[in-house]
Amino acid sequence: MHLPVLLKESIDGLQIKKGGIYVDCTTNRGGHSIEIAKAVGEKGTLICIDLDNEALVEAREKLEKIKNKPEIHFFHSNFRHLASILENLKIENVDGVLADLGLSSEELDESGRGFSFRFDEPLKMTFDASEREDQTTAYEIINNWSEDTIADILYGFADETYSHRIAHRIIERRKEKPIATTHELVDIIASAVPAMYRHRKTHFATKTFQALRMAVNDEIGSINDLIDALPKVLNLNGRACIITFHSTEDRIVKQGLRAKSETLKMINKKAIVPGEEELKENPRSRSAQLRIVEKIC
Ligand SMILES: C[S@@+](CC[C@H](N)C(=O)[O-])C[C@H]1O[C@@H](n2cnc3c(N)ncnc32)[C@H](O)[C@@H]1O
Repeated sequence: MHLPVLLKESIDGLQIKKGGIYVDCTTNRGGHSIEIAKAVGEKGTLICIDLDNEALVEAREKLEKIKNKPEIHFFHSNFRHLASILENLKIENVDGVLADLGLSSEELDESGRGFSFRFDEPLKMTFDASEREDQTTAYEIINNWSEDTIADILYGFADETYSHRIAHRIIERRKEKPIATTHELVDIIASAVPAMYRHRKTHFATKTFQALRMAVNDEIGSINDLIDALPKVLNLNGRACIITFHSTEDRIVKQGLRAKSETLKMINKKAIVPGEEELKENPRSRSAQLRIVEKIC
């Protein structure tokens, strides 16, 4: 089960007003949305967005059971379309936006879409569970994209030291037959990196898998589009809380928010991280970082 990360800190960070309008950009199964819905009350509005429709359906079931719930709208969409989603609803501005980036524990462990190197699954890695033909998949990148592009993805999105060696080995292996599953990819990575890299505490495939997932879902492009939309969609004194899970993601968020410092003020100098109790209860929260901004003009 996915445990919501930095729940109290992000709900406090949003400074939720009864009757306000809030957006959960990454609803998943509703971990944060439920608390927002309770805090905003029946006169408020909650907009729930996620690319994973299966998760969104479960969130809807849970949210519908809340007593005195706000008006809730669900959008199976990318949060990069936030401005047009609001336009659709004829909402000009909102009081708060939450984005808890990355993927949930269920997506990682149970989706069957190849997010984890621990399970042998088809190489998809799409957040969107629908089998749309126009979706880029990890299979397509691994089997069709050029060696240089694959190396750039591995280095650019995850600082993979052995990006060139891994990319080269992928190209060699796919000449024999298409690379179809996560474990085939893990074997290729194992054969490309030095022995000492295979015996570190962090699994040697971690960075390759993170980078591919980011490329498949254009995660950086989506985050940048969301940050670009914030000054326009937030009300004055409205807040945005963004939770990241690795250094590349946090760097993009920090730089993106800093670039908007004329309109968006950082509430905390340093990112907020989970306390000891949360780390004990939910070890997966260990790399989470929360950044909060407020619209000041
Ligand atoms: C870490 S989970 C959110 C968990 C949720 N806050 C909770 O505690 O229950 C991240 C979610 O964001 C979704 N997601 C990732 N990128 C997205 C995007 N660009 N647009 C919409 N949803 C996205 C994933 O499908 C996943 O459901």
